[in-house]
Amino acid sequence: MSATIFNNIEELPADALFGVKQRYGQDSRSPKVDLGIGAYRDDTGKPWVLPSVRKAEKLIQEDPTYNHEYLGINGLPELTSAAAKVIFGDDSPALKENRVISVQSLSGTGALHIAAKFLSKFVSGRKVYVSQPTWANHNAIFKAQNVETATYPYWKSSTKSLDLEGFLKAIEQAPKGSVFLLHACAHNPTGLDPSELQWPLILDAIAKGDHIALFDSAYQGFASGDLNKDAFALRLGVEKLAKVSPILVCQSFAKNVGMYGERTGCFHLILPQQNLDIAPIRSAISSQLSSIIRAEVSNSPAYGAKIVAKILNTPELTAQWHEDMVTMSSRIKEMRVALRDHLVKLGTPGTWDHIVEQCGMFSFTGLTAEMVQRLEVQHAVYLVSSGRASIAGLNTGNVEYVAKAIDEVVRHYSGSSKL
Ligand code: LMR
Repeated sequence: MSATIFNNIEELPADALFGVKQRYGQDSRSPKVDLGIGAYRDDTGKPWVLPSVRKAEKLIQEDPTYNHEYLGINGLPELTSAAAKVIFGDDSPALKENRVISVQSLSGTGALHIAAKFLSKFVSGRKVYVSQPTWANHNAIFKAQNVETATYPYWKSSTKSLDLEGFLKAIEQAPKGSVFLLHACAHNPTGLDPSELQWPLILDAIAKGDHIALFDSAYQGFASGDLNKDAFALRLGVEKLAKVSPILVCQSFAKNVGMYGERTGCFHLILPQQNLDIAPIRSAISSQLSSIIRAEVSNSPAYGAKIVAKILNTPELTAQWHEDMVTMSSRIKEMRVALRDHLVKLGTPGTWDHIVEQCGMFSFTGLTAEMVQRLEVQHAVYLVSSGRASIAGLNTGNVEYVAKAIDEVVRHYSGSSKL
């Protein structure tokens, strides 16, 4: 009997994104191009260890006190405090007023997981509104904690632009105190961010509804190459919601420091301004976050945390890191232009300016699922079925090949689908 109790477990399909990675790895054709997972590649198509990271690793390993001891449950303080300054700004009133509680997390996903657990424990029954579309894992993370999600309109496919009207209406119609998950910059998967004129309208509507803003910041520095510019929406949110409601922030160093597999990130909770002594509230929340972390991972991984902390706390390395982000974001921008120009030169049916207008690592190309399928089968060009392409997978050696492949599939289906 006991030998059979697991025999009827249903097999699930492979994860959409990691499935692409796996199929690409198994493909023996040449050339082949991976535009699936959002991970930076250099112009030779190789993963890039940032020069600032190489220098930080050297300093860490040469340090006579180097070891692999456990971190504290809430993480490496040198990381969490420096990370808070990166995201909120050195002069952040929330930091000065001691309203920010920061803990280390298993990258952005771990931070979202902490957010979901915290919400389910302390404000259960509130829905989390996510953009339509959003990063696929958002829904999965909240579902795993029995936190219900709903969507707000975001991408208008007819114009490849923001559905601001629909977005504002959803905020207005949501029950008071709902949670709105906002992509701080470089929206995944569309690469489309609200403008600096649209963000105030969105954040004012969130304040009016007494909603909780949950910022997912996975690409700070990747949209523009400038950390401060990419934190515009989040810092405006901190200002506008200061007297209204708490803010939750999930911060990842996977992309901007290239710590992908090291799982380095932070979760921050900002308390609103209140006429009370907030010290006991801070300490209660911090203890609850500790208890969530302890029960699940005991404490966070140390190596990536030490690297990021070294970069953020050593001025020379911080300056190098800023340059590294400009290197990455500029190369991606060049590849956007190259892809658009090749498609225009080929006369590929449709319009392609959205590729250069979008920002961050991704382009929501407008290619349909059947086109994506044909790209993979006929041309060994891999991307996810939504048509999202990781522009970081393009380089001077493969961009023309990819443009020609897109041209072929678009022409193949032209008539049956409209771009
Ligand atoms: C992506 O969207 O490609 C990345 O954030 C990788 C992931 O974990 O999904």
